[in-house]
Amino acid sequence: MKVLRFPDPRLRVKARELKIIDKETRKIFGQMKELMYEEDGIGLAATQVGIDLRFFVFDLSKEERKPQVVINPIIISKSDEKIVFGEGCLSIPGLRVPVERSKKIFVKWIDEKGNEIQKELSELESVLFQHEIDHLEGKLIIDKLPEEERKRIIKEIIEL
Ligand code: NI
Repeated sequence: MKVLRFPDPRLRVKARELKIIDKETRKIFGQMKELMYEEDGIGLAATQVGIDLRFFVFDLSKEERKPQVVINPIIISKSDEKIVFGEGCLSIPGLRVPVERSKKIFVKWIDEKGNEIQKELSELESVLFQHEIDHLEGKLIIDKLPEEERKRIIKEIIEL
């Protein structure tokens, strides 16, 4: 398992609902958590490792590792109030893009144990969820840039 890098076309795939959590899926959750730490990331979506199913792993805890798995997330509502955060992405190393998103979102998802969670998220957690859910839709932070800048950066990345 490895993190796909832009412009890998698999990053543009719209992921399907994850219907069954079994031994095999739990193994993938574990591998993705490890990979996220190896890569020094705070979130990793299944799409980023070439799996077209709707889930991601994340860890925003500071001291000790507390990774969480978010399955089939659905944003129920978004605040009109926005937040701009300089976002990075493991699939586009070295790039940081200021992205405007809703400051608060109300989300439901299934956790690793199969429980349904409903929660209002704010600040960094809200930003992270929106970033990872974008991945599950095949969207990347680079899409948020103005056209000229996007073209220039894509050209640079491809030349590298
Ligand atoms: Ni990302």
